[in-house]
Amino acid sequence: MNRRELLLGAGAVALAAGLPLRAGAQTLGLTQRETLLLNDGWRFFEGDIVPPPLSETDTAYNASKAGAARGAASPSFDDTLWQPVSLPHDFASFQPISQDDNANIAQGYRRRGIGWYRTNLVFGDDDRDKNIELQLDGAATYATVWFNGILVDRNWSGYSSAYIDLTPYVTYGDAYNTLAVRVDASVMEGWWYEGAGLYRDVWVVKRSPIHVMTDGVFAHPVKDGDGWNIPVEITLNNSGQAAGAVAVSAELRDGDTVLGHDETRTTIDALGNTVVNLNLSATNPRLWSPADPQLYTVVTRLKQGDTVLDEITTTCGFRTQRFDPNLGFFLNEQRLKIKGVCLHQDHAGVGVAVPDGLIDYRLRRLKSLGCNAIRFSHNAQSRAMMDACDRLGFLVMAENRVFDPAPDYLAQLQWLVRRDRNHPCVYLWSVFNEEPMQASAQGYEMVRRMSAAVKQLDTTRPVTAAMNGGLDTPVNVSDAVDVIGINYQQGIYDEVHARHPDKPIFSSEDTSSFMTRGEFRTDRDAHIMAGYDEEPAPWGETHRDAWQAVNTRDFIAGTFVWSGFDYHGEPTPFSFPSNSSFFGILDLCGFDKSAANIHRAQWIDDAPYVGIAPHWNWKRGDKVRVMVCSNCDEVELHVNSMSYGRQKVDRYRMNYWEHIEFSPGVLEVRAYNGKKLVATAQSVTAGKAVALRLTPDRVAMDGDGRDAQPVMVEAIDAKGVTVPLTDNAVGFEISGGEIIGLGNGDPNCLEPEKGAQRSLFNGLAQVIVRANPGAGGLRLRALADGLKTAELDITGNSVRMPAVQETAPPIQALDNWFRAPASSTAPDPSQAPDTAHWSWFRPDGTMFPALDGTQFSLCATSVTPYAGVQASGGTLDFLNLTGACDVYVDGKLAASKDDPTGPLSVPLPAGQGERHIAVVFHPQADLAYGFAAVARIRAA
Ligand code: GAL
Repeated sequence: MNRRELLLGAGAVALAAGLPLRAGAQTLGLTQRETLLLNDGWRFFEGDIVPPPLSETDTAYNASKAGAARGAASPSFDDTLWQPVSLPHDFASFQPISQDDNANIAQGYRRRGIGWYRTNLVFGDDDRDKNIELQLDGAATYATVWFNGILVDRNWSGYSSAYIDLTPYVTYGDAYNTLAVRVDASVMEGWWYEGAGLYRDVWVVKRSPIHVMTDGVFAHPVKDGDGWNIPVEITLNNSGQAAGAVAVSAELRDGDTVLGHDETRTTIDALGNTVVNLNLSATNPRLWSPADPQLYTVVTRLKQGDTVLDEITTTCGFRTQRFDPNLGFFLNEQRLKIKGVCLHQDHAGVGVAVPDGLIDYRLRRLKSLGCNAIRFSHNAQSRAMMDACDRLGFLVMAENRVFDPAPDYLAQLQWLVRRDRNHPCVYLWSVFNEEPMQASAQGYEMVRRMSAAVKQLDTTRPVTAAMNGGLDTPVNVSDAVDVIGINYQQGIYDEVHARHPDKPIFSSEDTSSFMTRGEFRTDRDAHIMAGYDEEPAPWGETHRDAWQAVNTRDFIAGTFVWSGFDYHGEPTPFSFPSNSSFFGILDLCGFDKSAANIHRAQWIDDAPYVGIAPHWNWKRGDKVRVMVCSNCDEVELHVNSMSYGRQKVDRYRMNYWEHIEFSPGVLEVRAYNGKKLVATAQSVTAGKAVALRLTPDRVAMDGDGRDAQPVMVEAIDAKGVTVPLTDNAVGFEISGGEIIGLGNGDPNCLEPEKGAQRSLFNGLAQVIVRANPGAGGLRLRALADGLKTAELDITGNSVRMPAVQETAPPIQALDNWFRAPASSTAPDPSQAPDTAHWSWFRPDGTMFPALDGTQFSLCATSVTPYAGVQASGGTLDFLNLTGACDVYVDGKLAASKDDPTGPLSVPLPAGQGERHIAVVFHPQADLAYGFAAVARIRAA
């Protein structure tokens, strides 16, 4: 079909629908969507900005109009002195850890409060007629969003994304668009560290007026006999001014190879939505599993003739799942015990603003434990995290934040399901965690409704709820879920199974055992917990007991250990100065505690493993308890050349040697399968620390300006052995990048997580670095008194920069004008606008019909210039004034212009407070006049 036929085709639809066809509305062949990152160009203010009260009727009247938001939400607000920031940005992570203010233990004693973000967006003339959507992946906690002074969204969860249609409000070309976001993080949604601000990515998506809606493709493969089907449900929207006919297709791909195709045609009304159903099939696909996470893609395309209007790629994976009430969980018809961890989203140094590179690191650390599943407690994650779980192979129990079937909260739940239902990693939807109403008939009714809301969108995964009680009441939530999740209470497993013989059961949370990395003597006064796995919370179990209770019962589908990593906040069983948790298998930086050895021994089945604790730096003659964790048959302990004998491995209880006398050298364990030595582990006595060492997670980083990674910092002796008990203060210098956070895994450390220095804790610290754009790589140096400086060079990969949304610096637009009725005598340029009789306009291509040759036209505005201009003066820039005119500032003639069209710059002298600007157009017959482009104030 050529363009002419295409136009005819589209016109026919429009006429048939009785709609006016606006030239160029949706037949211009807009090509594929642009997804633009909006992480740079923001300005930030910490605190609230409350506009003054409205005391006059006129001001109240005007303030209640669209576009008239006041204070920091107003386009004309002066944000020139705000702090420039890039996202992701967690402003709580910059706060000192202190008991002052309202700092809260749950939030790790960091002040949160209110903050404002602003930026100016620029859209070109070629963006006209596109559909433009703003996407905030996550803002903590209550976010209110204004665009060009119009309130466009309120998003009242720190974990749900906001998708905001900007299409009706956008201005193009020289007219900047002001985006203002107020985040109120004084609100708490949880009892853990939640961060504050725009802490996930922000995107602008530009697409054809007829487009696939955000999260509008559902393409999750289902097994059908010997083959597979992918029912593809596609939701389309048309923001254009005319109905449109499109061809809709879906293609299954393995890399670049097309494996299947289906298509249909449909028509979408202007401002309408249409759901299209296609079906793809496949035979013998490679299956997705945690061990082998094979991914495919579904490409959905909308076309008019040969013109592609929209195209999006959705990732999918082929796998089956089922729960058996007696035998637990089956993936791809093979029994798979869930070896999972519960996870909060924050990390040392960066709070909740976790860059993608760090997400990847965190998941690889969990993989090293033999972990195959994650419960995202107790809220939705970033898109990047869900993609990484698909890619790296973790089963995900996706959990909703608020237990409430009221419309606002059902919308949050349904958003989560709609966004995440394509991910092969997701295998369970959880509607709550530990809710007191779990024991009641009301709780049962609430879950019934929430479960139904999930099933409207996805019937392929069961619904669960994490219950920490109430399982023995006559009616409770366990009757409303598909799979019963039990938190702790491991003693009731058999009883619950007997009462619900047809319901699958799993441990949705257990353990909660305290440990401090690198410590082997508990000292509660010093807030230190030893790493021998003997100190569970009163409601919890040791790592060993918890797994034994799960793994010795076939009907328990698996475990979710509380918790995979330590997290900020909830420093149970202590309080200040403790400010992060003690529950992690890994510490806040992802360094191993001895719980990591325990889980490797429990969970790794496909390779020999042995681990040993503690370190081997004691006083001569000290009697030391040695803990060995292994999955092999037997283990033998040696100190230097002396054997302390062999033990049969106990994968539940672990192996211990008590009272081993310390003598410097090597503590070694040798692990055997049968007679064969298959693995060894050592703790080596370190000498005096002489140098620092830096070890990156990856030797090269992408030069896209976003890539970030952790670097491990250690003190080493002359032989390069890590010195386990050092706590030196280390300073850092970086070139070619930026330090975005620091940590050391000590839950009691009060040092800031920002800046360029950090103490080692039990020999280790972590620096999180972000590489500058470009392939220059970065250099990091670590310096400490008395230790040799360490230097690290990280290579830069040259990569394509992410496509970004164009932004503009703060500049004050003059966009609030009034035009007086034409007059036959020269008007008084100093008169204040009479808002009852004059008409309002924004000077962006605003032209008025020609006057009759004898009349004058007065246009006026009042403005309080930005502080810098008030102090030093500036320039009024009229980018295109059409018609001869005089410009007055505060009633005085400031400039005149005779030429029919063109720019005019007018000096604006320094001066405090509100200024009055007037343009008097002279009588000119037959010439339309006005503001062909915007007017603004430039600093001098
Ligand atoms: C659980 C709760 C978790 C965490 C944990 C600490 O009861 O679900 O969020 O607080 O206790 O032990």
